[in-house]
Amino acid sequence: MPILEWSEDLSVGVRVIDTEHMQLINMINKAYDSVKNMEEEKVLKELVKDMYDYALSHFSTEDRLMEKHGYPALEGHGKMHHDFTMKAEALNLLVTSGNPVEPVKVFKYLADWLTDHILKTDKELGKFLNEKGVE
Ligand SMILES: [Fe+2]
Ligand SMILES: [Fe+2]
Repeated sequence: MPILEWSEDLSVGVRVIDTEHMQLINMINKAYDSVKNMEEEKVLKELVKDMYDYALSHFSTEDRLMEKHGYPALEGHGKMHHDFTMKAEALNLLVTSGNPVEPVKVFKYLADWLTDHILKTDKELGKFLNEKGVE
């Protein structure tokens, strides 16, 4: 079962952001499933690494849009991206160093963080971008 599911409620009204969120959710679910199914460690490592890289690239998409359109809350939003990056990096390190982590807890954190961030912070950004004519 996926830890996180996409629904229209999560749409921020900007196509490129929605598409990347869907992809990120897919990747979190894949990595999470690999833990649940006790797949090879190598598989989990790759999935976590891919998820981490994708999150970074997604954040830079949003950061670029915020800069380009002079988003007033850019700093606070960027700081949240940074906090998530730190947490995901910690997970990446734990997994790659073969440390006995409790990945399920970490995935729960990532999934909850993403949902909360999309519903509050990204939706606000989406509204602002819509007003600037970005859809
Ligand atoms: Fe986002
Ligand atoms: Fe964001």
